[in-house]
Amino acid sequence: YGTMEISNSGVLHIGGISTVDLVEKYGTPLLVFDEWEIRKKAREYVKAFNKYYPNSRTVYASKAFLNQALCYIIEEEGLGLDVVSGGELYIALKAGFPPEKIFFHGNNKSNAEIKMAVEAGIGRFMLDNLKEARYINKVAGRLEKSIKAILRVTPGIEAHTHEFIQTGQIDSKFGVSVYRDQALKAIEEIIRMDNIELTGVHVHIGSQIFNLTSFSRTIDVMFEFMNNVRDKTGYILKELDLGGGLGIPYTEDEPDPGIDEYARLVSEKVREKSHEFDYPLPVIINEPGRSIIGTAGTTLYTVGTVKEIPFIRKYLAVDGGMTDNIRPALYGAEYDAILANRADDEREEIVSIAGKCCESGDILIHDIKMPEAREGDIIAIPCTGAYTYAMSSNYNGLRRPAVVLVNDGNADLIIKRESYEDLIKNDIVPARLRKIKL
Ligand code: LLP
Repeated sequence: YGTMEISNSGVLHIGGISTVDLVEKYGTPLLVFDEWEIRKKAREYVKAFNKYYPNSRTVYASKAFLNQALCYIIEEEGLGLDVVSGGELYIALKAGFPPEKIFFHGNNKSNAEIKMAVEAGIGRFMLDNLKEARYINKVAGRLEKSIKAILRVTPGIEAHTHEFIQTGQIDSKFGVSVYRDQALKAIEEIIRMDNIELTGVHVHIGSQIFNLTSFSRTIDVMFEFMNNVRDKTGYILKELDLGGGLGIPYTEDEPDPGIDEYARLVSEKVREKSHEFDYPLPVIINEPGRSIIGTAGTTLYTVGTVKEIPFIRKYLAVDGGMTDNIRPALYGAEYDAILANRADDEREEIVSIAGKCCESGDILIHDIKMPEAREGDIIAIPCTGAYTYAMSSNYNGLRRPAVVLVNDGNADLIIKRESYEDLIKNDIVPARLRKIKL
């Protein structure tokens, strides 16, 4: 995984730093990001698309993980940023991310969010519905601005992935469906709006997709749709945003479809379809999240309670859990684990790694072969960069972990561990209750 290595003394190192030293300095749970791994994935996207389809751009889907430090890396690697709320937009703008490289998604953008984004001068509005388009047109009209926008279309494609993370099916809360010409009608209205320039269409069929033919079928549907729009309105859609969704292997058993292969396949398919329909080659946009940040993150935990139920199971309880990684509880997601302070020890027993939340479902890993672990050992769970911290919570009063960025023997804290004070910072006790003697 990334720049991981095991030292002579059997200690797991990430980015040239000992995980034991990291834990000593920053405590656990600790999310460690390997900067080179993030850069490497970003570069793989840029390089592969430059090779197969230079007229393309990649925007990082910040929902997978976002903070200000990461904005610098994403910008330096030449990627744009996809945000989905006023909050993500705020983080990006505060970091100084160039607004014209920001794409704004969301199925229910509030009027306040829309105003904020129009005023900031973001690059593209990813229109989810007509209501939103009408409001954007109005705000832009008042400010005498022309807004570039892309319409999100639902193509009626069921990607082979967990039901919770499928988004391309007709019955979806996202986008305007191609079904019964809804999307066509939306486009007919949008292209007549004075202050919106519709540059293209967007589609996102789901996440953690291994089967690349799902992307191919999506491109088929999109070209049919774009061609239909041209036939009915004469309008040419210049940009085709294919969303994100490329899967990554979380464990050794899972395949790695690979960024290069993905880029090659979609590029070829888009060319083929352009040719078939005699449609001008569109700019391809892609919005990867997981495949940029997922493998770069490793979470370090300390083992506390070791509980053995004879002949049934052994639990290693760690000091985090569903609050810093809800994916196993929510999607049945699977991970690998490494005993970080004795990484060379023989894996000789099967254990389950349990979180510390008051939920039986808070099990990070079911039945994994590990070396015999004791209280105080450090467990590393790799591939925890995407949708972990981003989906974290304070359930059970747990504090969000610290996040460090490691690179070439250096570690920098990029998010402080939450404090107990943070847990009450928005708390207000009304005066009349304060009179009660505690
Ligand atoms: N673009 C759009 C419009 C999206 O909705 C998403 C993800 C992406 C791009 C990025 O997809 P990615 O490349 O990361 O697969 N929490 C779930 C994943 C939810 C994905 C939501 N949308 C998980 O932990 O598996």
